[in-house]
Amino acid sequence: MTQLFSPITIRGVEFANRAWLAPMCQYSAADGIVGDWHLVTLGAYATGRAGLVLAEATGVTPEGRISPQCPGLWNDDQVQAWSRVVDFIHGQGVRAGVQLAHAGRKASTASSWNGGGHIAPADGGWVTLGPSAEGFGPLPAPKAMDQQDIDTTVQAFADAAERADRAGFDVIELHSAHGYLMHQFLSPVSNHRTDEYGGSLANRMRFPLAVVAAVREAWPVGKPLFVRISATDWVEGGWDVEQSVAYVKELERLGVDLIDTSSGGAAIDAVIPAHVNYQIDLAEQVRAQTGVLTGAVGRITEPAQAEAILREGKADVVFLARQMLRDPHWPLRAAHELGAKVRWADQMRAGASWSS
Ligand SMILES: Cc1cc2nc3c(=O)[nH]c(=O)nc-3n(C[C@H](O)[C@H](O)[C@H](O)COP(=O)(O)O)c2cc1C
Repeated sequence: MTQLFSPITIRGVEFANRAWLAPMCQYSAADGIVGDWHLVTLGAYATGRAGLVLAEATGVTPEGRISPQCPGLWNDDQVQAWSRVVDFIHGQGVRAGVQLAHAGRKASTASSWNGGGHIAPADGGWVTLGPSAEGFGPLPAPKAMDQQDIDTTVQAFADAAERADRAGFDVIELHSAHGYLMHQFLSPVSNHRTDEYGGSLANRMRFPLAVVAAVREAWPVGKPLFVRISATDWVEGGWDVEQSVAYVKELERLGVDLIDTSSGGAAIDAVIPAHVNYQIDLAEQVRAQTGVLTGAVGRITEPAQAEAILREGKADVVFLARQMLRDPHWPLRAAHELGAKVRWADQMRAGASWSS
């Protein structure tokens, strides 16, 4: 019995295996509405039998999008468009998740293939929001959020969670990593507030924890809630594993079921280690120090590598991003290589035997 292809049940939801799709921005929605691109690509990960197809960073408000082409969940047209994608994924017996996000001071930027730079309001962008009026690298300074902005944004996350439920999603992952809004509040690198949302760790956690509490309240009790964190900023004096452990303990208390352990994104001058397991080590530390279900992500490419991460207790599930772009049916190949049984789509079953 492989670990990678053992099912896992979280709250009322069973996942057929532990090889999950990591969220990946596609910059391919119009007015936040997903279309054929998402149906075809996310659909392929479902026919490829990922245990969870986790859709990309999805804005809870228009100004929370990373780019003007990012998807959203702030209106009912978006719900309807997502439900078409979710229905297809469910038809394959696969679970569907969405990453709810607010990009804060890193919003209003171009797609990666258009350079990722700032898009000014005059060119279809918008004025961004952040904990403090300090820009990230060359990006302009955001408006420092006042209490009303904070309350409105917390409510927007809750409303988006309710819409995600109506779209049929099984899982919400909150994006609290990579230097986006929740992480901007957490990190001393980006949060220089002097009110109750800045300074001490308890104060810096106040906004993200309010988001988590509101989402947990709006999201059905039988459905899992995940949070993606950057476990470290990779800079002296920044967010680190110790603070992450304290944060994760609070998240667990609020009903978060799994921590997806990433890193970086808050500090422009971070020096990220080059070795293959640099992020897997972070997952292992968070899991060991909190006992919360943990996902590992980053540079996982080989079936035996994924299996070893699980078998050695470094994580409970693995998320793959770039390897799934190279091979959307990676879980089918992994099952073959590890000798695990997976039910292929009827239409594709002729491919299931590698012997002829
Ligand atoms: C094209 C692309 C888009 C991404 N978009 C997101 C995103 O929307 N949300 C997120 O949390 N991470 C995003 N990431 C990061 C991945 O989820 C993942 O953490 C990272 O690529 C490391 O995993 P890998 O080595 O398997 O690619 C993106 C990565 C890629 C390559």
